[in-house]
Amino acid sequence: MSSVFDNINIGNINCKNRILRSATWEALADEKGFMSDKQYEIYEELAKNDVGLISTGYARIMESDCPNAGMMGIYDDCFIPSYKKLTDIVHKHNGKIMMQIAYGGTKTTYKVNERTIFCPSGVPEITTGTKGKEMTIDDIKLVAKAHGEAARRVKESGFDAVQIHAGHNYLLNQFLSPYYNRRADEYGGSIENRARAVIECYDEVRKAVGKDYTVMIKITCTDFTEGGFSFDDCLTFCKMLEKKGIDCIEISGNIHGKAEKMAGYEFDGHSILKDGYFVEYGKIIADKVNVPIYVTGGFRSPEYMNKILSKTNISGFGISRPFLTEPDLVKRWILGDTKKAKCVHCSKCRTPEGNYCTVFCSK
Ligand SMILES: Cc1cc2nc3c(=O)[nH]c(=O)nc-3n(C[C@H](O)[C@H](O)[C@H](O)COP(=O)(O)O)c2cc1C
Repeated sequence: MSSVFDNINIGNINCKNRILRSATWEALADEKGFMSDKQYEIYEELAKNDVGLISTGYARIMESDCPNAGMMGIYDDCFIPSYKKLTDIVHKHNGKIMMQIAYGGTKTTYKVNERTIFCPSGVPEITTGTKGKEMTIDDIKLVAKAHGEAARRVKESGFDAVQIHAGHNYLLNQFLSPYYNRRADEYGGSIENRARAVIECYDEVRKAVGKDYTVMIKITCTDFTEGGFSFDDCLTFCKMLEKKGIDCIEISGNIHGKAEKMAGYEFDGHSILKDGYFVEYGKIIADKVNVPIYVTGGFRSPEYMNKILSKTNISGFGISRPFLTEPDLVKRWILGDTKKAKCVHCSKCRTPEGNYCTVFCSK
């Protein structure tokens, strides 16, 4: 029977177990995007404690884009030495580390009047009300190229993999979503057209890192919004990614802050589960697509993850908030204390002084 503590190959890398520290923005980088000492400590702690694959928080691929304060940057070669230091630390502990690269866009209220913020059409982002600049085709090509350049820097910095952030209402998710993408050109309309910008970003990334480097993507299974990116769209898109040679798809939703309360709620024919919110969606994707599928959101117990592994084709699990409470969670489980994670998924982990568990931990 497979176990969450079994190793797994993702593309060309071998991870010591099937747990991913899903990308978690710590809000601790400086204004430009350079890491703080505290962040090096956080990643070293995760690496020491046997997380199978550690993702960084999202790193901005363009200087002008910055959906949140304290994000890491990967928009210039000057970042490479600081990330070499990071990857060396993780590798010293026999860990694997991936960088998540992102163009945020209009899901922001941060310095919105000081910069140009791109979006597919002029539709304001639902939660922030921020309206961006509708992108020209040249703008789309610019963002795709910036993904490629960022991915080259990721590889040169010694990361084991790169992940494209195409979820959570950020720019690439907005292209996929008919709610945000009202374009009449070849980037809007059918799912094939809505996926075009994302695929062009993927192509630039792949071109920059070569066919043997591990490239992952994080997407939402559905937008959980009427008129948004649907689960049918998601299945079609995953098939497109499979054909393109993606190495792993991480399935998320854009609702982790409220998912506990939404347990049992049905959307696009499937339910949000209390444990592992998006398992029903991930299970179907994993049945239909021949690419490792990781599901993220709401996991706290190894016993439960093992049950999912035995009953589905899902390959692994992303965990974010529980690591803010217990960075040593995986090691604790491996050593035999398999009690579920302490984290109660209350999402009180975002603070102006950095993101940490305000319930069980001190800063
Ligand atoms: C403080 C915080 C920061 C996050 N930062 C990111 C991020 O940078 N990129 C991303 O894709 N998701 C981010 N997420 C979402 C998580 O990766 C994850 O999808 C979500 O929290 C659900 O997983 P969990 O139930 O294990 O926390 C963040 C979540 C939290 C709470």
